[in-house]
Amino acid sequence: MNETIKAARLENVRDNLQNIFTLNDAKITRAFHQTFPEYQPTPLRNLKNLAHELGVNAFFVKDESYRFGLNAFKSLGGSFCLGKYIAERLGCDISELSYSKITSPEIKSKLGEITFVTATDGNHGRGIAWAANRLGHKAVVYMPAGTVEERLKNIIKLGADASITEFNYDNTVRFAADNANKSGWILVQDTSWPDYEKIPRWIMQGYLTMALEAVEQLNGVIPTHVFLQAGVGSMAGALAAFFADYYKDNKPVITIIEPNKADCIYRTARADDGNLHTVKGSMNTIMAGLACGEPCTVAWEMLRRYAEIYVSMPDYVAAKGMRVLANPLGDDGRIISGESGASTSGFVCELLQNQSLDYLREMLEVGSDSRLLCFSTEGDTDRRNYRSIVWDGLHPSF
Ligand SMILES: Cc1ncc(COP(=O)(O)O)c(C=O)c1O
Repeated sequence: MNETIKAARLENVRDNLQNIFTLNDAKITRAFHQTFPEYQPTPLRNLKNLAHELGVNAFFVKDESYRFGLNAFKSLGGSFCLGKYIAERLGCDISELSYSKITSPEIKSKLGEITFVTATDGNHGRGIAWAANRLGHKAVVYMPAGTVEERLKNIIKLGADASITEFNYDNTVRFAADNANKSGWILVQDTSWPDYEKIPRWIMQGYLTMALEAVEQLNGVIPTHVFLQAGVGSMAGALAAFFADYYKDNKPVITIIEPNKADCIYRTARADDGNLHTVKGSMNTIMAGLACGEPCTVAWEMLRRYAEIYVSMPDYVAAKGMRVLANPLGDDGRIISGESGASTSGFVCELLQNQSLDYLREMLEVGSDSRLLCFSTEGDTDRRNYRSIVWDGLHPSF
């Protein structure tokens, strides 16, 4: 419990780099997602009583545990990138494709069976397995050492050839890339590096459906602060760029949240020396979805331009978020939020309740007029751990 929250502030770069995460891009993405029979917008919870308790004007949390019945937002990126890849193979635009067209016998016979391969700490691989299965193709999924059985089984259930490797997340990504090269499979990775950016960009664009739904559900309320959790930063980079395009001069302050055991983006922001900074080793954090040690290059380009505050925080803050969201005040809606999903809400609660964080409240300029927005990016994807934290308040790492 003696670990503390660290934060860095960065002046945004101002240049004319093209934003490919605009409102228009989001509309194209959502139109594709809407063609899936399972598509439903996920709920945006307005936690009025919690906002009052914390002394802010409003606190909204988007609950991605409802996404496509898969308990996390990640399938948005996986399904959109498969759609974009298939559109490119067919020589058409994604707007000409739909779920029913891609799965039609005519398109199936043109494409044959494609094998998509990826590395994942759980949610992305489940999204790829689901999308490949729904669209009639194959998925091979590799997971880092230490992955819990439940996450592996969830992916196998979707028909993928999934296995746990002996590597950490970043080396599992390299392993997937090598196997893609050797076997002629298509690597669909949710992070980029200098010579691999096209598919990660599509995956990032896939996440925009979640942001577009949120701004519509806010119904004219403009958030002053948005908190985004980061593993490699792809989701946060895409959403930060989207909010900048959507709100223009009213852009909310964007804060990036990472576990202190895997804070590669915080380190990159703090150094601000033009290089990406990494974290090596096993990155032992309860926030499994955020346990990534190498920033996504495309994401960093976006974050550098559109995110202001970077936070590195201990596991107990995420655990607090899980408990707060599971125990709503008054008639606030209940949110089942996993370790990575609850990280941002946990940070907000700690920020507003912990006396020793005055400097951080000042840095963020958060107060009684603030309207806060968080994304609970997953539900209880590891149910055993979820219960041990929410019921017993325990985890071996505390
Ligand atoms: C639940 C959850 N939230 C957030 C993230 C972070 O996404 P990114 O790796 O794009 O930063 C992940 C990544 O797997 C995740 O599983």
